[in-house]
Amino acid sequence: MSITVRRLSKRFRSNGRACCALDQIDLDIADGEMVALIGPSGSGKSTLMRHIAGLVAGDPGEGDVLFDGRPVQSGGRISREIRELRCRIGFIFQQFNLVGRLDVLTNVLAGAIHRHPMWRTLAGVYPMQERLAAMHCLERVGMDDKAAQRASTLSGGQQQRVAIARAMLQGARTILADEPIASLDPSSARRVMETLARINSEDRTTVVVSLHQVEYARSFCSRAIALRAGKVVFDGPATDLTDDRLLAIYHHRLDGEDGPSSSPSGPAAPVVAAAPEPEPAFA
Ligand SMILES: Nc1ncnc2c1ncn2[C@@H]1O[C@H](COP(=O)(O)OP(=O)(O)O)[C@@H](O)[C@H]1O
Ligand SMILES: [Mg+2]
Repeated sequence: MSITVRRLSKRFRSNGRACCALDQIDLDIADGEMVALIGPSGSGKSTLMRHIAGLVAGDPGEGDVLFDGRPVQSGGRISREIRELRCRIGFIFQQFNLVGRLDVLTNVLAGAIHRHPMWRTLAGVYPMQERLAAMHCLERVGMDDKAAQRASTLSGGQQQRVAIARAMLQGARTILADEPIASLDPSSARRVMETLARINSEDRTTVVVSLHQVEYARSFCSRAIALRAGKVVFDGPATDLTDDRLLAIYHHRLDGEDGPSSSPSGPAAPVVAAAPEPEPAFA
């Protein structure tokens, strides 16, 4: 099993009010799965991913996250093994997180820093073998012709593919991608999703990708997990995300919930508009 989550909860306190961002989450994600994480804004997608990567600890007392059977965190404490485990987890952010003033190849090589002494990283001097491996990763995401270009000169979709190449060079066995296509135009978004799907099928890299746009979940992911107010409200084949289910996930207000805006009294909105910022349908 690649990722195991048990009874994971996280409460945040802001302005004197407690907010339950994760509410007793239980999940198992097997090696080689490609999973879409969906749900309204504020439902807990980013928080869950950050907990899986061991960037944040859950509530004290209970809750476990395991990666490849080894503890990432337990009872609100991050494991001592976390540095080693994090090398195997690639995190892709909506805002790309490349160093804009550095060239593309150097950005990809940053994925290999855990394999080299610090002086190499600081001096930017990597062995030829590592540079060739980085070029190979760039080739696989279709960005080898841009290796010498400054990252800041690339489009958003191109930057995201470089970030994927960096995770590949890192040797990540799992990629957690938090809204990687949220700020991209439809054709760039599609290309990024195709890149993730390719490394998933060719390398059996586990991919968990949070998405605003349900259409991409249905097109590219075999499984979808929907969160709502910190709870898992759907977990199954992405093709089972019927219009009724999407309406329940995104629109119907639950008793006592002050989460996503909805129109409980008005007529139900058509489901195409159910996902925030809907995308045009694919050609
Ligand atoms: N650092 C934080 N401090 C306080 N509240 C937070 C923090 N991070 C997230 N939250 C709250 O937790 C809930 C889930 O947020 P988030 O995981 O970002 O949702 P999503 O990624 O699905 O949009 C939201 O209500 C958000 O306001
Ligand atoms: Mg988020």
